[in-house]
Amino acid sequence: MQVDVDLKDFSYKVFIDELSQLKFNQNVAIITNQTVSGLWLKDLLSLIEAKNLNIISIPDGENYKNFDTLNFILEQLFVAKFDRKSTLIAFGGGVVSDITGFAASIFQRGIDFINIPTTLLSQIDASVGGKTGINNKFGKNLIGSFHQPKAVYCESKFLKTLPYREFVAGVAEGIKMAIMFDKNLFKFLEKSDLKTQNEISKLIKKCVEIKAKVVSLDERESNIRVVLNYGHTFGHVIENNTNYLKFLHGEAVSIGMNMANHLAFRLNLISKDELVSIEKLLIKFNLPTRYKIKDIEKFYDKFFLDKKSSNKKIKFILPNGIGKYIVKDDISKDIVLEVLREFQ
Ligand code: NAD
Ligand code: GLY
Repeated sequence: MQVDVDLKDFSYKVFIDELSQLKFNQNVAIITNQTVSGLWLKDLLSLIEAKNLNIISIPDGENYKNFDTLNFILEQLFVAKFDRKSTLIAFGGGVVSDITGFAASIFQRGIDFINIPTTLLSQIDASVGGKTGINNKFGKNLIGSFHQPKAVYCESKFLKTLPYREFVAGVAEGIKMAIMFDKNLFKFLEKSDLKTQNEISKLIKKCVEIKAKVVSLDERESNIRVVLNYGHTFGHVIENNTNYLKFLHGEAVSIGMNMANHLAFRLNLISKDELVSIEKLLIKFNLPTRYKIKDIEKFYDKFFLDKKSSNKKIKFILPNGIGKYIVKDDISKDIVLEVLREFQ
């Protein structure tokens, strides 16, 4: 299966379960971490031929998506005498693809890179769309660039070794896309337990199609791409309040979607049945939907740290029924606090 990301001169294909021999006439570096390389590097190496192949292993974890690791990657590229024709391959989850893409975007003013994502989250979301970056002490993904990969290879077989908790954190992002854009995908997820590789590949394909379409319409997030942040406005506050330790990103998004849905219900955008069926679906995949807010005023104030908030207005991305979205930036503080109180 192949999905096109249509971006004129920067268009590329996402190949799903079609990774076969890759041949390069230039220097190539695979950027990965020990967890992924221990499990899958041998398989990948058997498929790659390059003039000069380097492996750069970075430490595993969100804490390492930072300047030090970026600098480490860049230095390795200089040591290996990489030039402007060289190519990077990101082999890992979203942390690896975000930092590799960023390194590729700045090494000698920009070189090519390819994503071979190995988590569900990175296959259905992070590896497509060209958002690259690192974190600093001021927050997540605050330094970065838009730099599109040359190709993306999503192989469902890599997910066989992914811990269940990481897997369902990825499912949360799939549920996000279903609620915003595709009622049939929502129904599919209600029926499926995602136990077979066929079902997982179907989810990957559907989500990649949605993401590719959104990115093709709005690469730089000036309008529709913002909808991919449904659940994130609340989720980011929860992640921040818990020092990024208690919840995986997809778990926080799951709670965030439920909170957003309560707001949508309060505004008559979704019915009680829809509110309940979405929470039921999240719970079916063992995702959390509740978080006890200690101080609703402080929680509300943190919405203003969101990259989407501007001119003192908070942008809420809400379902307008299942499969349709609405973006609102005029909801009164009283109504939002009323909803947050339900989670106290
Ligand atoms: P991750 O990259 O930290 O991977 C999760 C864990 O799974 C890691 O320990 C990793 O080593 C391990 N792992 C990876 N593949 C494995 C496999 N096949 N088997 C066993 N273990 C495996 O986390 P993630 O959820 O993939 O990505 C989260 C990151 O993605 C965040 O930094 C987030 O900001 C970023 N992100 C970026 C975008 C984007 O559009 N650029 C979108 C969403 C998220
Ligand atoms: N994951 C959100 C985006 O790519 O825009």
